[in-house]
Amino acid sequence: MAQSPYTQQDYFVVKAKENGVHVIGLTRGSDTRFHHTEKLDKGEVMIAQFTEHTSAIKVRGKAVIYTHHGVIETSE
Ligand code: TRP
Repeated sequence: MAQSPYTQQDYFVVKAKENGVHVIGLTRGSDTRFHHTEKLDKGEVMIAQFTEHTSAIKVRGKAVIYTHHGVIETSE
């Protein structure tokens, strides 16, 4: 069975530093729109990849984002 190349991609991690942090997935391709919003409460962690369906994410709220490129903190 052919495996999607996206399953080989790095993971990123979003750790919520307050309640109600949103991790919003944006669609891949010419039509860029929100397709999924995951709500995290303080201390919750989301571990995810960029996929065939998701080319970008938007993080709303106070969080720490760990990627291959480094660690980024959103400001308040
Ligand atoms: N079904 C989505 C996908 O395969 C799940 C997902 C993966 C996702 N990474 C994400 C949703 C990042 C929101 C943000 O693309």
